[in-house]
Amino acid sequence: MYSFDSMVKKLKKNPKTIVFTEGSDPRILEAASKLLASNFLTPILLGDPDEITRVAEEDGDNIRGAVIIDPKNYEKMDDVVNAFCEIRKSKGMTPEQALPIVSQGNYFGTMLVQMGIADCLLGGATYSTADTVRPALQIIKTKPGNSIVSSCFILVRTAATGGNEVVAMGDCAINIHPNEDELVEICHETAECAKVFGVEPKVAFLSFSTNGSAKDPDVTKMRNAAQKAKQAYPDLPIDGELQFDAAVSPVVARTKVPDWKVAGHANTFIFPDINAGNIGYKIAQRFGNFDAYGPILLGLNAPINDLSRGCNASEVYSMAIVTAALA
Ligand SMILES: CC(C)(COP(=O)(O)OP(=O)(O)OC[C@H]1O[C@@H](n2cnc3c(N)ncnc32)[C@H](O)[C@@H]1OP(=O)(O)O)[C@@H](O)C(=O)NCCC(=O)NCCS
Repeated sequence: MYSFDSMVKKLKKNPKTIVFTEGSDPRILEAASKLLASNFLTPILLGDPDEITRVAEEDGDNIRGAVIIDPKNYEKMDDVVNAFCEIRKSKGMTPEQALPIVSQGNYFGTMLVQMGIADCLLGGATYSTADTVRPALQIIKTKPGNSIVSSCFILVRTAATGGNEVVAMGDCAINIHPNEDELVEICHETAECAKVFGVEPKVAFLSFSTNGSAKDPDVTKMRNAAQKAKQAYPDLPIDGELQFDAAVSPVVARTKVPDWKVAGHANTFIFPDINAGNIGYKIAQRFGNFDAYGPILLGLNAPINDLSRGCNASEVYSMAIVTAALA
């Protein structure tokens, strides 16, 4: 993966700890054993220590050196409960209400990050996206200057000319119906994330219309969002609204919008909503042979990422490195 080696180098200089909320999942344990062998990322595995040890032994995963924490027997649970009540005090959270909530791996793990016990978190091997993301939204919260948490996928494949072809797509996983201003924020965050992966972002706001070829409120939304984003980020190359072919094919772009600069060369794609985005990245992954890394959550105060429930151990390993490198 592009820049993957540089992420590993960065972590070797400055090792991190990462919480895995599903500590007894065989895929997590395989990835954790690989991380432990490499020595730049310490896994904190949440769950029943006996079960974790049994599954690791059965699968031949050496997890010596991993920190195992069972939220149900955590000696400093009072601190976690009190910290959670403080964060949720505007909701009237009491210790009695908090205890069962923070005893769940997704909330407990997020509290470890919030309390500085871990640097970052990777969950979602069995939790749904919503159940992984919700504790982050409630506890870690949106970073100053941002109004939403969003997400992007980084897609990588070997280019026909050799080397890697890397593109970014947002928001394919969090905001279901983003409005114009939220799309501007998604554009900025996705472009910044693309840079981390070595992409010089050229942004296309995607639609079923190119430069007003169709009329619909959804078209207007993407057109206006592209204009607002251009004004907000004058140094970022942005075009829109564009159909996908006009965004990536120089021939189509020359026919439809000959004066536009990004059209035909886009590498950072902003989708009108989660339907389009989620379907779009999966088409690229399944039919276009791209490896998909994400969803990478954007706009949070600390790196928390979500796995696909269909993930394999190698994807867990890669996403753990990506997550920690963002810490
Ligand atoms: C992200 C998501 C889980 C939030 O849903 P939810 O928990 O039902 O949302 P709620 O409205 O109850 O909000 C919960 C909290 O998160 C906050 N929140 C919700 N969406 C947010 C966003 N995009 N950015 C920042 N905060 C957000 C709310 O303000 C609320 O905070 P509070 O409890 O402190 O008041 C929801 O948008 C979702 O399900 N998205 C799609 C996920 C998905 O299935 N993706 C496809 C698979 S990859």
